[in-house]
Amino acid sequence: MRTMQSALMATALLFCGTANSETTITIDDQGTIGTIAPEIYGQFLEHVGTQVYDGIWVGEHSEIQNTDGIRDDVLDALTKLDIPVIRWPGGCYADLYHWRDGVGPQSDRTARVNMAWGGTPEPNSFGTHEFFELAERLGAKTYLNVNLASGTVQEASDWLEYITFDGDSALANERRANGRDAAWRLDYLSIGNETWGCGGHMRPSHYADLYAQWATILKTGGEPPKKIISGSHEGNLDYSDQVLDHPDISNLSDGISLHYYTLPTGDWAKKGSALEFPKLEWASTLENTLKMETAITEFLDIIDARDLDPEFGLYVDEWGMWVDGEVGAPALYQQNTIRDAIVASWNLNIFHAHADRIAMTNIAQMVNVLQAMILTDGPDMVLTPTYHVYEMYRPFQGAQALAVSFTGPTFNVGDLTLPALSASAARNEIDEIIIALTNADPGKSHKVEIPALGYSKSEVRVLAGDKLDSHNSFSAPDVVHPTTIDSEISSGQLKLELPPRSISVIILSDK
Ligand code: AHR
Repeated sequence: MRTMQSALMATALLFCGTANSETTITIDDQGTIGTIAPEIYGQFLEHVGTQVYDGIWVGEHSEIQNTDGIRDDVLDALTKLDIPVIRWPGGCYADLYHWRDGVGPQSDRTARVNMAWGGTPEPNSFGTHEFFELAERLGAKTYLNVNLASGTVQEASDWLEYITFDGDSALANERRANGRDAAWRLDYLSIGNETWGCGGHMRPSHYADLYAQWATILKTGGEPPKKIISGSHEGNLDYSDQVLDHPDISNLSDGISLHYYTLPTGDWAKKGSALEFPKLEWASTLENTLKMETAITEFLDIIDARDLDPEFGLYVDEWGMWVDGEVGAPALYQQNTIRDAIVASWNLNIFHAHADRIAMTNIAQMVNVLQAMILTDGPDMVLTPTYHVYEMYRPFQGAQALAVSFTGPTFNVGDLTLPALSASAARNEIDEIIIALTNADPGKSHKVEIPALGYSKSEVRVLAGDKLDSHNSFSAPDVVHPTTIDSEISSGQLKLELPPRSISVIILSDK
């Protein structure tokens, strides 16, 4: 939190480190910033390109090994990430989605085109039952984004009754007739998506009125879901401020969302390439991802200027790398390199530092879209460097975030001077300490000295790339993968040399 911020500012101001001087990391293990909500590790599943169809859903008659239509290899890989929550069905797509198209016998589903994302066929074979089945099999909570822009409040109300009502009603009985007896649990509900843009280009006051109306009318069976206001992107925080002006809105909600994407160039018209980018774009990517810290602190200032329930949360329900798509590739399909892994870990460290306020984040997106965990091509599947970061960071879920501070080295590319290191730490429920260290320096290793805090054993896993764009492909799926390195605590300290372009996760145990 503030400590991380001050560490970053300190690095920016001092320009002190040479590549191989030693950075001393300080961890405050006497208090906690707050619990790292497992939901910070949330995923986003939108109907775009080949994410749902091919990436997750192949249908039960596919030659690709599947269980009830969901491919087994992808499900097995996702299971290893302990995914806490999945947001579905969009994104921009949510505002074109009509739930009735995707329930009932597969042969009767309504075929449409995905007008939000390239006019691709949308067979609606993956609908409500398939989403809740996927979430149930992953042990993940469910997060729906209802269609505010082209749907009606009655349509959304019917959907919620269909999903969550356990008693005797036409809609609950229709769900039973479609094969699901027990009601599902809906954990989170967003009313609207990017209402300042693809969700309708609404003025904040208009959206606030609609939100209040829908939030009042929409009811569920069982425990109510947390309701989330669609908020700003990094560049228009004022929008959220004006939405929150509505006198009743905060009583009708549990939090508000922030979207922020890291573009290598910072320019939507020419975002930059996933592979073979110049060194300057490595640096500008990091420069742009650092803006997440500012976006969060400025957003929290807006929330704090009002007398809201202390539980009112910030939901960063879209974030991640967005680069130019390749010609002919499915919509929003992009390769994923060690640079993406650095972006993922740096952002996760920022979220840990704000664990007291961030209720959820959802990286965009899960499979074959933007900064994905997994890429598929027909029967083939590959795990991306970002997948490995999520797998390595699993122990942070639900742990108590600890404040970390250091005055670290910087690196220079062209006119840019940037902090080389980012860190976060936490204590888990079995009293181990987890430490994450990111070395974003494109060319140099950095030595760090970490206090062992009285622990005697350390386990260190490292993910590194040989090149700026090291990545896994279908022909070479294991180029970037975590390795466990030897480490030893001596005189109460753990000394490590962090390779360039690397992420390390350390577990201290056996006090
Ligand atoms: O994640 C891709 C798109 O980015 C989402 O559909 C939209 O909400 C955002 O603009």
